[in-house]
Amino acid sequence: MTPETPQKKVFIRTHGCQMNVYDSGRMADVLAGEYATTGAPEEADLILLNTCHIREKASEKVYTELGLLRRIKEKAATEGRTVTIGVTGCVAQAEGEEIARRAKAVDLVVGPQSYQRLPEIVREARSTRRPPVTADFAPGEKFAALRDTPPRNRGEVSAFLAVQEGCDKFCTFCVVPYTRGAEFSRPAADLIAEATRLADMGVRELTLLGQNVNAWHGDGQDGAQWGLGKLLFRLAEVPGIARLRYTTSHARDMDDALIAAHRDLPALMPYLHLPVQAGSDRILQAMNRRHTAGDYLRLVDRIRAARPDMALSGDFIVGFPGETDADFAETLRLVETVTYASAFTFKYSPRPGTPAASSRQQVPAAAKNERLYRLQALIADQQAAFNRSRLGMEMDVLFDRPGKRPGQIAGRSPWLQTVHVMASPDLIGEVRSVTIDALGTNTMSGVLSDARTFEEAV
Ligand code: 5AD
Ligand code: SF4
Repeated sequence: MTPETPQKKVFIRTHGCQMNVYDSGRMADVLAGEYATTGAPEEADLILLNTCHIREKASEKVYTELGLLRRIKEKAATEGRTVTIGVTGCVAQAEGEEIARRAKAVDLVVGPQSYQRLPEIVREARSTRRPPVTADFAPGEKFAALRDTPPRNRGEVSAFLAVQEGCDKFCTFCVVPYTRGAEFSRPAADLIAEATRLADMGVRELTLLGQNVNAWHGDGQDGAQWGLGKLLFRLAEVPGIARLRYTTSHARDMDDALIAAHRDLPALMPYLHLPVQAGSDRILQAMNRRHTAGDYLRLVDRIRAARPDMALSGDFIVGFPGETDADFAETLRLVETVTYASAFTFKYSPRPGTPAASSRQQVPAAAKNERLYRLQALIADQQAAFNRSRLGMEMDVLFDRPGKRPGQIAGRSPWLQTVHVMASPDLIGEVRSVTIDALGTNTMSGVLSDARTFEEAV
C-alpha cells in the first residue's frame, strides 16, 4: 500500500439538510490523509454520525443509532479492533455534554463549526478516556481551514458549495441560530477558488448553500460589496459551470440585484426554494418572520415578472402555537395563490431553548395531523399539475448519472425533476435538449431533441 492510500477507514452517516451533506463531504476531505471513506460501518475504524436537530424526530434518531453502533463497536473489540465513534453536526452542538454523558460508546463530539479539527480530535479521543466535546463557534477559522483543504474529486456532475453559514433571523420555532451560530459569509475569493477547483474536476452544476443563503455578502474582486446576485454572475463565468442554484433563501433577503440575476443570468435555474412557513399574518408575526403574507406574494410576483418560467418550492409548518383553523385556512389560500412545484411540510415540533416551545398555546396533535394531511394533499395536486405541464415540452437536461435500466441515463430538468433518456453514458456531464414524452410518479422520461445526436450516441 502506498503512503497516499490511508489504511484506516471512516464511515460517515448523514442526517438532515444539504448543508450536512456538504459538511460530511468536507469532513471526509479533512480526514483523507489518514482515513479512506467506506460505505460499510462494519469495516470502519472511525464512525461519524452527522446529526440534525431541527425537529424532535431527527434529533431522537441519534440515540437510536448510537445503540446500533455500540454493537458494531463491541463486536470489533472482540476481534481486537478499536472503533472510534463520533457525533458531529447540530445535535453535537446543542447536546454535546449530554451525549458524552449518556452514550457510553461515543468517543468524541464535534459541533459543526469545528470539524476542520477532526484529525487532531480523533487522535485525542483515541488516547483519552473522557470523550472530547468540541463545540466552539469559529466559522472564520473553519472556512479558512477548508480553503486550505481542496475538495477531493467525488466524480460529481452536480456539487454543493457552502457560501454562508448560520442565521441571525431567530424565527421563534427554529434552533438554527443556536446550533449554527451567527450569519457568516465566506469570502468571494475563496468561493471562486473552490468553484474553479470543482469545475476542473468535472462539476457542471453548483448549488450554493447557506441556512440563509441570500444573506450572503462579501468584498468583491472589484473592491465593491457584493451580494448573492453579484456572486452568482461571477461564478457563472467559471469555465465549465453550466448551471447555478442556491438554497435556502429568506424572503427578506431577496434584493433587486438577486431578482435581476434571475432575469439576466441564463445559468441561474428557474427554480427557487423560498420558504414562507405560514399564510396568516398573525402567525407570521408570532414566528418572527418579519414579513406579511402580502409581502411574500408581491415578492413572488416580482420574481415571476423577472423570470416567467420560475417554479417555486417552499417550507410550511402547521400547528405553530396559537394557529387556529382560520389561520391555517390562510396558509391554504396562500398556497393556492402561489402554486408550488414542490414543498416540504412539517408539523410544528417544540425545540428546547426556542421561544415558541414555551408558548402555552400548543396545538393538539390531532389538529396538526389533520392540517398536515390537507396541506400535503393540496401541494401534491399542485406538484402533479406542474409535472403534467412539462409533458411534450422541450427542455435542457443536465445528465448526471446512469439510469436504472440498461442503456438509460438520468439527469435533471431546470426545475430539478429527474429525467430519464435512452442515450450513451458519454453524455453524462453534458446539457442536452430533451423532449418529454412520459411522466412517472416521481420522474419523467424523454428523447433527445436532436435525433442526430441520439443516433451518434446509441
Ligand atoms: N418544527 C417544525 N418544523 C421546523 N422547521 C424548522 N424548525 C421547525 C420546528 N421547530 C422547518 C421550517 C424550516 C425547515 C428547514 O424546517 O419549515 O424552513
Ligand atoms: Fe431558522 Fe431559517 Fe428562520 Fe434562520 S431564517 S431562524 S434558519 S427558519
